[in-house]
Amino acid sequence: VRVPTPANEPILSYAPGSPERAELKKTLDRMASERIDIPMIIGGQEVRTGKLGEARMPHDHAHVLATFHNGEASHVQAAIDAALAAKAAWAALSFAERAAIYLRAADLLATRYRPILNAATMLGQSKTAFQAEIDAACELIDFLRFNVSFAQQLIAEQPISGPLMWNQLDYRPLDGFVYAATPFNFTSIAANLPLAPALMGNTVVFKPSPAAAFSNWYVMELLREAGFPAGVINMVQGDPAMVTDTVLAHPDLGGVHFTGSTTVFQSMWRTVGENMRRYKQYPRLVGETGGKDFIFAHASAREDLEALAVAIVRGAFEFQGQKCSAASRAFIPSSLWPELRDRVVALTEELTMGDVRDFRNFMGAVIHEHSFEKISAYLELAKSSPDTKILAGGKADRSKGWFVRPTVIQSENPASRLMCEEIFGPVITMHVYPDDRFVETLRLCDSSTPYALTGAIFGRDRAAVATASRELRNAAGNFYVNDKPTGAVVGQQPFGGSRASGTNDKAGSFLNLVRWTSPRTIKENF
Ligand code: ALA
Repeated sequence: VRVPTPANEPILSYAPGSPERAELKKTLDRMASERIDIPMIIGGQEVRTGKLGEARMPHDHAHVLATFHNGEASHVQAAIDAALAAKAAWAALSFAERAAIYLRAADLLATRYRPILNAATMLGQSKTAFQAEIDAACELIDFLRFNVSFAQQLIAEQPISGPLMWNQLDYRPLDGFVYAATPFNFTSIAANLPLAPALMGNTVVFKPSPAAAFSNWYVMELLREAGFPAGVINMVQGDPAMVTDTVLAHPDLGGVHFTGSTTVFQSMWRTVGENMRRYKQYPRLVGETGGKDFIFAHASAREDLEALAVAIVRGAFEFQGQKCSAASRAFIPSSLWPELRDRVVALTEELTMGDVRDFRNFMGAVIHEHSFEKISAYLELAKSSPDTKILAGGKADRSKGWFVRPTVIQSENPASRLMCEEIFGPVITMHVYPDDRFVETLRLCDSSTPYALTGAIFGRDRAAVATASRELRNAAGNFYVNDKPTGAVVGQQPFGGSRASGTNDKAGSFLNLVRWTSPRTIKENF
């Protein structure tokens, strides 16, 4: 079998007057006027408990988009049972049969489901049309198509044979089931965490973030329509600690595919360690966790000052700074500072923020009250610290939505909390360093946080860029030269970080799929 060689899905523009814009607007209006009820999906059945959570619009938090049903431990157990029951038939399908379902899902999403997933992501997660399009449409379509192609290449990878002997690698799924616990910030990642293991023949218990329950429901609808058999991906909701504890205590746990906070992932490792004797195998633990992503400028970036300023603003503020890859700290040489500062401040002050249904807005609201409060506390810290200065933004307004103005902070202290801690909001802290302390400052950038997800160096001096690349070799799993640290594209920049940022099992590459297979070596004498 040879699947088509994929190409990245083109990004639609949603320009005024375009048919895609009209369709998206219609879908937004319809979804905002309904209030759907979201069941759990266990073994293909809709399960309702009446223990309701609410999905609200972050930019209009009085507006309830949907209610969703929370389960108890017995429901999680039922989802595990359903995954185990569906396993044999799913794993026995040929790769081509599984691939056909993925390719069909991609085509459905590229057409009829595109406005649906985009509108749901805009309303439920407060993404602008562009941010939704690159996530819920393009990146998810790419995950579906490219992973099929990567899996095929992986399966084709075989040992040498003969004479009178044949050696094979049989790419079995893991024993047991996989647990996918997913984040709110990318609909594509939320879908890919169960989909990547399932492609390799695993069955999954999928726990979406409650903050993305709305779009994740439509992902389940898409998968059902694409032909995923009942029980392959089972969606549950409920108290996160209860769900996780139930899943991690099960002897058939085969693996965990996680994106979320460092603390939660570390506590999962602890629980897995404590439960080790119960398991039938060593569970695979794959996680993408926190970050404190950086933009580092060398003095030779002077020629590209505008590009640097734009990278800082887009890298820090698109989707309200809630991408795991978002620029959150910057190191700027003093020779560039006054001009760069003025440009970053001017661009930041121009940014429009509001309801994402108004397509002129560049930003929406942050995801929920908890996030709003956490970010607001960092803004207070910036106001009260003697060594920091707020250059732009610094304001937050909770009256209608969870709105935080894009904020630029200058910190004299490169080791300040604002320079080192993950904030996960539209806040960037910049430190100005003397031009002649380039290498020392690179070392500081490398050592001052526990994270290593994304980072960028700006500069035209090849030797300086090479020095930065060497000094920061372990500081980022995705390293950009003269570009912002966000916006990795499937098939182009495999994504993931190390240190406290994760296990670096690159999403959107065969390196991730390898984790979901337990190959059997077969030697046959002729
Ligand atoms: N893949 C996302 C990005 O690179 C997280 O921004």
